[in-house]
Amino acid sequence: MTVTSSKRSPFPIPFGWFQIGWQDELKPGEIQPLEYFGKHLVLWRDDKGVASLNSAFCPHLGAHLGFGGAVTGEELVCPFHGWRFTADGKNSLIPYSTRINKKACVESFPVEERNGLIMAWYHPDGEEPMWDIPEVPEFNDPDFTDVITRDYEIEAPWQDLAENGVDSAHFRYVHHTEEVPELVSYDADGPVARMKSIQKFPTPRGIVDGYINADSYGPGFSVVHFGGIVDTVLMGCNTPVDENRCEMRFTFTVRSMGDAELDSTVGEAFVDEIHKQVREDAPIWNNKAYIPRPALADTDGPFTKFRKWAAQFYAEGVETDADLYPPSQQYPYEVIETASRKHGSDPFAD
Ligand code: FES
Ligand SMILES: [Fe+2]
Repeated sequence: MTVTSSKRSPFPIPFGWFQIGWQDELKPGEIQPLEYFGKHLVLWRDDKGVASLNSAFCPHLGAHLGFGGAVTGEELVCPFHGWRFTADGKNSLIPYSTRINKKACVESFPVEERNGLIMAWYHPDGEEPMWDIPEVPEFNDPDFTDVITRDYEIEAPWQDLAENGVDSAHFRYVHHTEEVPELVSYDADGPVARMKSIQKFPTPRGIVDGYINADSYGPGFSVVHFGGIVDTVLMGCNTPVDENRCEMRFTFTVRSMGDAELDSTVGEAFVDEIHKQVREDAPIWNNKAYIPRPALADTDGPFTKFRKWAAQFYAEGVETDADLYPPSQQYPYEVIETASRKHGSDPFAD
């Protein structure tokens, strides 16, 4: 008998580094209200340029610091009664008192800016960062183009999205690709998982041998190198909004061919293809159940290895008493016209 859970997934919010924005979208003096990790948050940049992430509610009487609050120098000012807080969350001024309230504290989260991204460390018990976010040299290389970005809200936990990477069979059926990536290796070492695959790309001049190498640094930050036709690098970031929903951000750069117009055409075409794939994946992710003990084919990808790697990021442990974790509602499915559908190589057509 199948035991169906009333929950969407057995997973709590994982710990790790997560993208909460792009560096150039937060100017000094700006405050942004955000919702991640099941919390209301404020991201702000002080007048010296340092970005900080704090919980949103003022400990005095609960005003949201992101709606009407202000940045003064290196302090955050509450809109309700003007109390000030430093980046580490301590009360630094009560404008109508000569004293401060030492117990008044807003939670703060470690923030790093790297590769043009603003990253925050989340851990449910407030543990300090356990690994680093690497520099990705291509995002600081004049031989590579300016970045192209995309972002998506997905009604599923990050693990369902990340599992897509080891699921080689779905490319044929969801994305209608003629050639599917072939896994060469999948190795996990602590928080880092590295996957290498090769893929043939059909081109008007014949088949080109390519590769896709994806390195994940915890649940929130992956770097994917695509080679073969043109070198493209993607930073793929999943950030939990809460246990059952996440925001996915993509940042791409392409090796320049020395012609700005050609670069942008090639870059856009590549990004359009990935964008199409996410729109194809999304209705599957949004509507799928999580099955802890799936019925796999012998030729399926390394799901077990992937799930073992992913399990280390849940500080509270994973609940495993049900066989099925279905979504609480249904989401629309949109048919996307693809070249293979048009040209008769649709795997479902015959
Ligand atoms: S609620 Fe923030 S200063 Fe009073
Ligand atoms: Fe996919």
